[in-house]
Amino acid sequence: MSYIELAKQKFEKLKTKKDVIILAIESSCDETSIAVVKNGREVLSNIISSQIEIHRRFGGVVPEVASRNHVLAINNIFEQAIKEAEIDEQDIDAVAVTYGAGLIGALLVGVNFAKGLAYSLNLPLIAVSHVYGHIAANYISHKDLTPPFICLMVSGGHTAILRVEDYNKIKLLGTTVDDAIGEAFDKVARVLSLPYPGGPEIDKLARQGKDTYKFTVSKSLKHSLNFSFSGIKTEVVNLVHNAKQKGVELNSADIACSFQEAVTKELEEKSVRACKGQNICKLVVAGGVGANSRLKERLSKACEENNIEFFAPNLKFCTDNAGMIGSMAYYLLKDGLGLADLSLTAKANVDL
Ligand code: KG4
Ligand code: ZN
Repeated sequence: MSYIELAKQKFEKLKTKKDVIILAIESSCDETSIAVVKNGREVLSNIISSQIEIHRRFGGVVPEVASRNHVLAINNIFEQAIKEAEIDEQDIDAVAVTYGAGLIGALLVGVNFAKGLAYSLNLPLIAVSHVYGHIAANYISHKDLTPPFICLMVSGGHTAILRVEDYNKIKLLGTTVDDAIGEAFDKVARVLSLPYPGGPEIDKLARQGKDTYKFTVSKSLKHSLNFSFSGIKTEVVNLVHNAKQKGVELNSADIACSFQEAVTKELEEKSVRACKGQNICKLVVAGGVGANSRLKERLSKACEENNIEFFAPNLKFCTDNAGMIGSMAYYLLKDGLGLADLSLTAKANVDL
């Protein structure tokens, strides 16, 4: 029997198997991560090797450098993930991998490793969207969370409001028309000379500042669930550049705080409006910017005031990790979705 015939047969059986152990691989940006996840919710191991220190001196991720470092790290991470999960290769039921969205070269390292592993162990290969993976991070942190819910997706590459009707039935209600929110955080941080990645730095610095600048996001999308962050980002960048040219001192903490107040207010208002409009009283935040302390504070308060249950992933599952990919793979598999063959390749963009 050929590899793909065998993989299909095993995949079918897994739909009804009681315990399913998935080994998941994530390499879409600057984290090499491999996890072992049982039944979509129980993380047996989740090893993350971050390249942040390597890219920091360049002020951002250098794609070629990221790919090379994934190659260097991936074997070790695999061995650690197996060891920490206290399983043998023979215990793995399926291999899952992020195929997009992300940096092509970086993704290809994970995709090729996953293909080699699936082929050598005769296991089904499951292709997972990184964006859906971020949603699944919440299934790990909240064992009782089930769809339907509204998801505020806020990462370095995406900003969207989604109606998650079921695990694999997701409707886009609103999205950014320009910059992703994480991108705006990182660019504002950069102009303030804060190290990469900028989001957590703004979060920290903002705590020492006040909302003195009263920035606002563009009003043009006021009535829709779409977002625009490029205007406010440019406003901050111009303010800092002009001040530098004139030799005027600025208070960076106040700028960070004012920027963060404006964007988190926008994210909060539209998320709550989406819940009310869709008649759904569960709000889930997903993606790296979901780690933002002010955003979580605002969302949790607004949800309490509006009788909406609020969910956020534990911090370590908020930013990129393979645990969330293993969780999403389980729900794809249970619906008979995601099975890939050895022609699977990386994609820079995936549809939401
Ligand atoms: O989800 P993620 O790890 O990668 C993508 O899929 O893009 O998100 C990375 C983004 C970066 O822009 C980073 O600055 C931002 O998440 N981020 C934060 C915080 N932690 C990470 N932004 C604001 N506040 C934070 N605490
Ligand atoms: Zn991500």
